[in-house]
Amino acid sequence: MVGARPNFMKVGPVWKAIAARGALKQKLVHTGQHYGPKMSEVFFSDLGIPPPDVHLGVGSGTHAEQTAKAMLALEPVFASERPDLISVAGDVNSTLAAALVAVKMEIPLAHVEAGLRSFDRTMPEEINRVLTDRVSDLLLTPSPDADENLLREGTDRSRIFLVGNAMIDSLLQSLDRALATGTLEAMRLRAREYAVCTLHRPVNVDDPRALSRLLSTLIEIGRRLPVVFPVHPRTRRTMEQSGLLAVAEVERGLRLLEPMGYLELLALTSRARLILTDSGGLQEEATALGVPCLTLRESTERPVTITRGTNVLVGTDPARIMKEVERVLAERDCAVRVPELWDGKTGERIAALYEEWLGRKAT
Ligand code: UD1
Repeated sequence: MVGARPNFMKVGPVWKAIAARGALKQKLVHTGQHYGPKMSEVFFSDLGIPPPDVHLGVGSGTHAEQTAKAMLALEPVFASERPDLISVAGDVNSTLAAALVAVKMEIPLAHVEAGLRSFDRTMPEEINRVLTDRVSDLLLTPSPDADENLLREGTDRSRIFLVGNAMIDSLLQSLDRALATGTLEAMRLRAREYAVCTLHRPVNVDDPRALSRLLSTLIEIGRRLPVVFPVHPRTRRTMEQSGLLAVAEVERGLRLLEPMGYLELLALTSRARLILTDSGGLQEEATALGVPCLTLRESTERPVTITRGTNVLVGTDPARIMKEVERVLAERDCAVRVPELWDGKTGERIAALYEEWLGRKAT
């Protein structure tokens, strides 16, 4: 089951491994939480996965609307397909919707990327993660900290499987193709001489004052090196409504773009001097790529990107961000020890586990 942008990179490798092994039949269901060529379709072609078997067209809405619409749309699909296992990924509203429908229909549920915790209950994703994990039969974790979180919450050890990071499979499978897109050349960017920024967390982009403060900081960074900024629709909406778009558009150091496809963005991030983000996925990708990452949040559910990787939590205070930007620009190397099992084989491990678990269940 997929629903929103970050799901595609996590589910793609699992889908491909199951297809290649040929032992299980599978169907890909897309809720349509994210939709259209730029937020959804491009990811299927970029990742080499076929269009979904079922597309539910749920679309945008409040949390309750979106989750409820997804549940209503998923229930008849699960009822007619009656699968032996439902696999969900990540922490978006569609993930929780599918999890709730599955558990109430007594269909076994597997959660890819289980156990991550920011311990910040104001984040909708944290609620989605905690609840999905509570009702999952198989908890597939990306790193040992996730196992520890689940054990601390009383999860039975026999249900937890440390399989690694499926999103990094997508990255490793796609890097050569990403660089072959010629994105840097087309944008006249030189490797390691620009920054990439993404922002979409409600706490950063829904309030025009918070967003204005961040944009001012990005403009300041843009005086040191070009900042490439693909703008999420949520962020663009606030920028348009508050007049910030017109202010930012005239800044030469800040290059505002439409949301980018997976390969184009990977081409940019892989050769960036610096990544500034509030995305969870980009923190992990930066670690796998060895590119310095400053996370514009107060917490992260992905602590291995700090302890092992390139990530530094900087929050949103302009002085703190600028200090860290200067530090990164002054440094030659960036220490990184890519976490174990972020090795491009997580999809394969998950497919093998599903086969084994379903076989075991059948006997
Ligand atoms: C969602 C996820 C978030 C994830 C992010 C990745 C939840 C709670 N949030 O946030 O965890 O990191 O996706 O991008 O599930 N919109 C469009 N086109 C689209 C999708 C959205 O224009 O294809 C606009 C709509 O105005 C919509 C707004 O963006 O209201 C927010 O979309 P939504 O899916 O609710 O949440 P995201 O902010 O994208």
